Amino acid sequence: MTEIRVLTDEAQYRAHTTVFRRAMHWGPPSDEQWPVVLPSYEAGRVLAAFDGEDMVGTTQSYGSSLVVPGGAVVPHAAISRVGVRADHTRRGVLTALMREQLSTLADPVASLRASEGRIYGRFGYGLASRVREVEIDAHRAVVPGAPTGRVRMLDQDTADELLPVLHDAIGLTRPGQITRWPGWWARARDRKTSAENSVTVVHSGPGGDDGFLTYVVKEEKEFKHRLSIEDLVVATTDAWRDLWAYVTRLDLVDHVEGEVALDDPVTWLFEDPRVVRTKDVFDEVWLRLVDVPRMLSARTYGQADPVVIEVQDRLLPANDGCYRVSPDGAERTDAAPDVTIPVDLLGACYFGDTTFSQLAATKRITGTNLAAADALFAVPQAPHCGTFF
Ligand SMILES: CC(C)(COP(=O)(O)OP(=O)(O)OC[C@H]1O[C@@H](n2cnc3c(N)ncnc32)[C@H](O)[C@@H]1OP(=O)(O)O)[C@@H](O)C(=O)NCCC(=O)NCCS
Repeated sequence: MTEIRVLTDEAQYRAHTTVFRRAMHWGPPSDEQWPVVLPSYEAGRVLAAFDGEDMVGTTQSYGSSLVVPGGAVVPHAAISRVGVRADHTRRGVLTALMREQLSTLADPVASLRASEGRIYGRFGYGLASRVREVEIDAHRAVVPGAPTGRVRMLDQDTADELLPVLHDAIGLTRPGQITRWPGWWARARDRKTSAENSVTVVHSGPGGDDGFLTYVVKEEKEFKHRLSIEDLVVATTDAWRDLWAYVTRLDLVDHVEGEVALDDPVTWLFEDPRVVRTKDVFDEVWLRLVDVPRMLSARTYGQADPVVIEVQDRLLPANDGCYRVSPDGAERTDAAPDVTIPVDLLGACYFGDTTFSQLAATKRITGTNLAAADALFAVPQAPHCGTFF
């Protein structure tokens, strides 16, 4: 019999990390690693499943904020460390954890990164944003024109101090982005320290610091290197352009790779667009609308005739019902539905990355007035989170 408990102390948090890490086939945290991991535990947000006194499953969340289409910012739970001990899988442990987590979350929306694509749909999470993995042939990459600002390299201590401040100052600039919590920065610092040759550069324009980039360079063959972009955050397109120009002009670097939003204009940055190769298009954010009425009201809508959407939510039945969505907003209604959709697929449509017509074509949903629904949920900018957790 599985019992779900909220964990409260450091010894339990450490056991929680161990259960999760073992589920991922990693070893337990060492004494050196533990002080870095501990700040990522937030009181009241850590759940574990127990079989008697044995901890057999884990999940937790970090409190942050999320930008929705139209620019509003809502409280958001970043779900992490989901794992079930290998000798207890496929007995409903994760189902019990998800049920408890979702029914007790105060935040109206949650998101996660999925290790496998088949796990989370049943719990109401939909694939809401994707990233493009690009590889650039640095030797052939020519950015026309001169830089408009200055790029300076930081030492590790200065970067540790400046980056959280600069990230907050830049703010949330596009739908899908989230704020970063103190434990996130602690983990990022640790990753940089263990990567040993991680480098951070900051860009300044006329108004001061307006972007930063962290990268790691690996030698692949003698004098042949691959640069991986770990983090790229900018306030302006000038900062974006100068930082890409910087990484593609570095001596001894043959290839530059990174993850960008689906609509990122990087291909057009170079004289020859073929220097940018798409290696993959991959899942980014899986989104769970926890409070559907609140989340439908939080975003803005495009111009189209109103559409009535019927939402089905097996785990959180308070969300069930019909919502009238129009250019003026969304509200509950008793009117007959045009479209019927499970909550995970509404999550997939929420940021505009997936359309109702696409889902109908694949027979995942049924309905009429699909073109109007598509136009209402359409967005000018593809969603992108850019903060891995
Ligand atoms: C993924 C994981 C947490 C699932 O835990 P679990 O306790 O076995 O899940 P449940 O028993 O509650 O499964 C619920 C349902 O999801 C299905 N399911 C669970 N994990 C699945 C997977 N990886 N692939 C396909 N289906 C899966 C189950 O078959 C079950 O379906 P059913 O209700 O139709 O029988 C667990 O297998 C695990 O820890 N995996 C390794 C670590 C990992 O990938 N964690 C996720 C990080 S994002």
